[in-house]
Amino acid sequence: MTAGKGVTVRVPAKVNLDLSVGATVEGYHQLSTVFHAVDLVDEVTVRRARSWGVTVTGPYADKVPTDSSNLALRAAQLMYDRYNGHCGITMWPVQIRIDKSIPVAGGMAGGSADAAATLMAVNELFDVQIEMVELLEIAAELGSDVPFALVGGTALGSNRGDELLPVLTTAKYDWVFAIHDEGLSTPTVFAKFDELSPEAADRTPVPNEKLLAALRSGHPADLAPAIHNDLQEPAIALLPRLQETLAGGIAAGALAAFVSGSGPTVAFLVEDRRGALDLMVALNAAAVADAVVSASSHPGGARVVSPK
Ligand code: C5P
Repeated sequence: MTAGKGVTVRVPAKVNLDLSVGATVEGYHQLSTVFHAVDLVDEVTVRRARSWGVTVTGPYADKVPTDSSNLALRAAQLMYDRYNGHCGITMWPVQIRIDKSIPVAGGMAGGSADAAATLMAVNELFDVQIEMVELLEIAAELGSDVPFALVGGTALGSNRGDELLPVLTTAKYDWVFAIHDEGLSTPTVFAKFDELSPEAADRTPVPNEKLLAALRSGHPADLAPAIHNDLQEPAIALLPRLQETLAGGIAAGALAAFVSGSGPTVAFLVEDRRGALDLMVALNAAAVADAVVSASSHPGGARVVSPK
């Protein structure tokens, strides 16, 4: 057996433009959420090997676990357990390399994106030939945000966030993200939400129609007032310095400032590319984050880039 060149998949990060939280069912909160992909991208390369392993490069590499808790590794092993030896398919352990640009534990689904990319890469590498609908089912077993990373673009998520419907929009927005060195754990933020909003236990979250209409119009000024995140308040309660980051962005001219998913990354919507550059300069000068990056909306999801 030779190691071979492997398969490389590029996968974007996400923000939630709406995140409405309701009752808890079997340990998971019912959600209505609008996922939106942005072009902060991880690149995942999967090669067949004699043993399982994962290596990570890039600015956030030291924060990513490389043991059996790594979600990309779990994705590869799940594919192996399910398909090796079935229907004439022969699979091998794999070595996974993740070139990481998506912040870690930042509310941008970086770990989920790597898992989705790995599912797609393994499918290609061993010619497993599973269709997207089956990949989406496996993705949902790995985590609530993994299915969206496969499809990307803009999608309405329900149930745990894993049941997706496409949202019709061709709009492309410009974004700035303020990154914090501290991570926030998703279960901790949901637990804080339960403490702060006990009334949500009786709520069934519904799609944010105002936001969906704004996405159809495509104007950033329409989108800004419709953005909403129920997890923002608990994220701030756990990490009060986020308040300063949010206020710093609005003071510097952002159209909207909000916590991304369960945080602590703060997302800013801006008018255009020029607005993004101006905001980055202002946020850096105000020192309200540990790092600042810009991105644009991304039309797709995980995609094989090599071999083409
Ligand atoms: O699905 P995932 O493994 O990413 O979820 C991590 C944790 O986040 C869950 O164990 C749960 O505590 C919380 N969660 C939730 N409701 C959701 C999604 C996640 O409470 N819809």
